[in-house]
Amino acid sequence: MRILVTGGAGFIGSNVVDGFLADGHDVAVVDDLSAGSAANVSRRARLHRVDIRSADLDAVFASERPEVVSHHAAQVSVRRSVEEPIVDADVNVLGSLNVLEAARRHGVRRVIFASTGGAIYGEMEPGTAADEHHPCRPRSPYAIAKLAVEHYLEGYRMAGGLETVVLRYANVYGPRQDPHGEAGVIAIFIQRILGGLTPVIYGDGEQVRDFVYVGDVVCANMAALGVPAAEPVVVNVGTGRGTSINALWRALAAIAQPGIGPYHEPARAGDILCSVLDPGRATAMMGWRPEVALEDGLRRTWEWFKAAAAREQEKAAV
Ligand SMILES: NC(=O)c1ccc[n+]([C@@H]2O[C@H](COP(=O)([O-])OP(=O)(O)OC[C@H]3O[C@@H](n4cnc5c(N)ncnc54)[C@H](O)[C@@H]3O)[C@@H](O)[C@H]2O)c1
Repeated sequence: MRILVTGGAGFIGSNVVDGFLADGHDVAVVDDLSAGSAANVSRRARLHRVDIRSADLDAVFASERPEVVSHHAAQVSVRRSVEEPIVDADVNVLGSLNVLEAARRHGVRRVIFASTGGAIYGEMEPGTAADEHHPCRPRSPYAIAKLAVEHYLEGYRMAGGLETVVLRYANVYGPRQDPHGEAGVIAIFIQRILGGLTPVIYGDGEQVRDFVYVGDVVCANMAALGVPAAEPVVVNVGTGRGTSINALWRALAAIAQPGIGPYHEPARAGDILCSVLDPGRATAMMGWRPEVALEDGLRRTWEWFKAAAAREQEKAAV
């Protein structure tokens, strides 16, 4: 299958590219490299350094003639979306519309969209996991934009017969996550440990998240290629298991054996206390279920970051 992955030089997108390639698909990538890196993109995929908002996107669709678009490109910082909501909407709403218009013009059959269950559902009852019927209470411009794009997708599906698959990710972690962003607490913790620095936990650390390993997210994207989509497909990609930040730290510390403990800073305004996604519908519709337990995923992620740091040190020493 010919697949175009937007944001394919980023953390999740580049892992998805590798999964598609391993399955024998023909893969092209659109990424402006504003956050991602060309080094993340397999040489077997064709990288187009193009902004999804630009008119140049059309030429990429014309030359690549994708059958499926996997749309991962986005402004991903919730904090930035609060500070600069227009920038956020420009990339995440108008950029997505530019992708959808190009898809319509060039006869793309299916669009798979990287949405966010972690942000669009808002606060959840502790001890529960949200299914797709949970009310959407987006609290940030980032979440509002993602939900808006879900609605646009439904509009395109009804008007033009475009097949759409919405994957609502929980908190994704794993190799290639950018530790410099605010998004990935696991990558940030690991980077602090490797640098011998004390990690920070905001608030009492009892806020609960659903951490899903990127390898499982890749499998969800592969399942999304083949799922029957005569009806709209909207599924959570999470584990159903909640982990507090304190428990996460303990699990990571058991693996990484840091000589330091975290310190606490005041809770950040607007932080959600509890967010866990029920993956039952993804299992029923796509046969997908998370396979990688948190402890296992943490170990793989730790080993990857340690090896990457060692490579950096070697390079610096030459
Ligand atoms: N990381 C998570 O836990 C998580 C959770 C829910 C949803 N998501 C969604 O998954 C997708 C991938 O996120 P990620 O964590 O891999 O982030 P990332 O920043 O690593 O990847 C985003 C990619 O998009 C590219 N990009 C940004 N603006 C662009 C533009 N205007 N034109 C072209 N490319 C552009 C960046 O260079 C980057 O490579 C995003 O849509 C994000 O909203 C991520």
